[in-house]
Amino acid sequence: MSNAVRVSEDLYYIGVNDPDIRTFDIIMKTANGTTYNSYLLKTDDGVVIFDTVKKEFEEEFFKKIESLCSYSDIKYIIMHHLEPDHSGALPELTKRVPHAKVFISPMAQPMLKSIAKTDNMDFETVWTNKELKIGSKTIKFLSTPNLHWPETMSSYIEEDKILFSGDVFGSHYYDNRLFDDLVGDFDYAFKYYYDHIMRPFKSDVINALNLYDDLEIEKICNLHGPIIRDNPSKYIQRYREWSTKTDRLHGKKIISIFYVTSYKNTKDMAHNIYEGVEADENLIANIYDLTALDEQNMIAILEESTGILIGAPTINSDVPKPVWDLLSCMMVLEKKGKFGGCFGSYGWSGEAVEMMNSRLKALKFRVPLAPMKIKLIPTKEELFECYKYGVEFGEIVNGKMVEITL
Ligand code: FEO
Repeated sequence: MSNAVRVSEDLYYIGVNDPDIRTFDIIMKTANGTTYNSYLLKTDDGVVIFDTVKKEFEEEFFKKIESLCSYSDIKYIIMHHLEPDHSGALPELTKRVPHAKVFISPMAQPMLKSIAKTDNMDFETVWTNKELKIGSKTIKFLSTPNLHWPETMSSYIEEDKILFSGDVFGSHYYDNRLFDDLVGDFDYAFKYYYDHIMRPFKSDVINALNLYDDLEIEKICNLHGPIIRDNPSKYIQRYREWSTKTDRLHGKKIISIFYVTSYKNTKDMAHNIYEGVEADENLIANIYDLTALDEQNMIAILEESTGILIGAPTINSDVPKPVWDLLSCMMVLEKKGKFGGCFGSYGWSGEAVEMMNSRLKALKFRVPLAPMKIKLIPTKEELFECYKYGVEFGEIVNGKMVEITL
């Protein structure tokens, strides 16, 4: 699609397509490619650009702008997100329109100059309740941080009821018909995008949705994939359902114990820790042999668990692969408020337990107890220590005050 497309009477799509990309941000598969969405608003007092595109596509982006206005018409640039897929063309844009003021969130300020590669940029930081009046339009700014970078924000054209949501409500799904009511079935891409990009920030998603609730929204102009104009509330509701924590167990917290074992020693430790956790009737303990769990199940279990205990022996001075697989799942989960701990039997050096423990700390888990290591076959007394470790970890998850060193 080489031409700008009208989104509403005064708003145009000036984004670009990347149909051949197959992996995005290393972790996401993009079978349908993707789009880098950008928008241009014409008013009787000048032009506003909403976000730019990935650098390698900037030529097409500038052609679209030139088809709609002259550079001297552009008064403002609103950057909802500074990741390079949206800020790639910003340095060239600010060269072409040095007179334009750039609006960003306060958190974006340290990044802006290094991205734009100039010290001479006119910019202003904005947040919820700040607004920009231009011609007959009122653009309200909304603070929606961590979706999915700290500096992300949203905005809304009051007169046109159009929300600019940044990456929120995006999909990696290229279809040149552009609008959700015209493209193919992108449901899977919408959910996949949420799961990989927004899921680790569920609380921030809910905060953003609460702000969006005060708006009447007819169109959602996101940064990737189809523009949403057919019943936007349906998509908003999906985000709310996916981000709302259920209380299936009526307040009881879950502690999940994952282990791998070579000679049943770590398994015996795991089961005794499990008994210790279960001693508290306000906790639910789960125990899993990691070699029989696939990734989707790991993610579901991790998400529901307030506490996570991981046990592994040391093999060739390393942590066995199923544990690294489990730890890598954490990337797509919200870790806020979760507790972690590690244990394992070892024969010689026994580094695995410390390696797992360091990883949990790096992931910002609260790690209240020293890891529990037992040499080879646990004695009866040592298994009782495991039981007590489970009891103590459970008490901490249930609110016992301890000093946590991170
Ligand atoms: Fe689409 Fe977070 O950039």
